[in-house]
Amino acid sequence: MYSTILTNLENGILTITINRPDKLNALNAAVFTDLDKVIDEVTCNVEIKSAIITGAGPKAFVAGADITEFGGLNKEQAMALAKRGQDVFFKIENSKKPIIAAVNGFALGGGCELAMACHFRLCSENAKFGQPEVNLGLIPGYGGTQRLTQLVGKGKSMELQMTTHMVDANEALQLGLVNYVTAAESLLERTKDILLVIQSKAPVAIGKVIECVNVAVVSDSAYTNGKSGYDKEVEAFGDCFITEDMKEGTAAFLEKRKANFKGK
Ligand code: COA
Repeated sequence: MYSTILTNLENGILTITINRPDKLNALNAAVFTDLDKVIDEVTCNVEIKSAIITGAGPKAFVAGADITEFGGLNKEQAMALAKRGQDVFFKIENSKKPIIAAVNGFALGGGCELAMACHFRLCSENAKFGQPEVNLGLIPGYGGTQRLTQLVGKGKSMELQMTTHMVDANEALQLGLVNYVTAAESLLERTKDILLVIQSKAPVAIGKVIECVNVAVVSDSAYTNGKSGYDKEVEAFGDCFITEDMKEGTAAFLEKRKANFKGK
């Protein structure tokens, strides 16, 4: 079904592994096709409750867009390439089911941008993040100029993109680029443990958290339908109130028992 990614579904968690280790999992057109499809699968398959994106091999999460595909593009083709990447990454960011990046090595260029499009990130001790595009006479094109700024602030984002400094795992933790650093061997387990906690909560409400937090950090009015994050929160709060899960969650609290959420 997929030519460049591997998938494994266990306990409701779909682990998506970008599988081009000999090219450090660089993102070519085929990877984008597969990522696009697999996020649709995450959305549509009721067996899938959440997902992890990681890279094959011990060395890289993703070492960037596949530079071999850059040759000979004109301006319009280059813009289409960036738009395609942005669209797939928006799909990840807007998934109503949590998608977490488990960064197991280099996350450079488009790899850093992919990790930043996920809802949050964990990384292994050998992880390295960076936006090295200016070395190639380029800038990030898959949302990196925006998401890096949202995550680490304007000054640091400017510095990292201008100097191409590679951020190691501890610096990534300090900057808020990742939530946790783990040993390489425990990265997936730790990520799964967090997702199992999230999966025990009310799924509709989790989707609404994602929607509202995304509005808080994105200024593009097309993306937010012209609504402020506060407007969106009021509406989402109301949407949660009419779910069966809200009735179940509040009843379970009052009856001093564990809630059994149905995602409705
Ligand atoms: N696009 C295409 N191929 C890539 C790639 C990319 N972004 N990153 C790595 N590769 C390929 C290399 O060309 C090499 O292929 P080969 O064995 O056929 O020659 C293979 O992956 C291994 O990479 P290599 O450079 O030999 O590994 P290294 O350990 O010496 O260096 C990096 C690792 C990550 C520092 C280095 O690969 C690198 O700088 N990659 C490009 C990062 C980048 O600029 N990304 C942004 C792109 S916009």
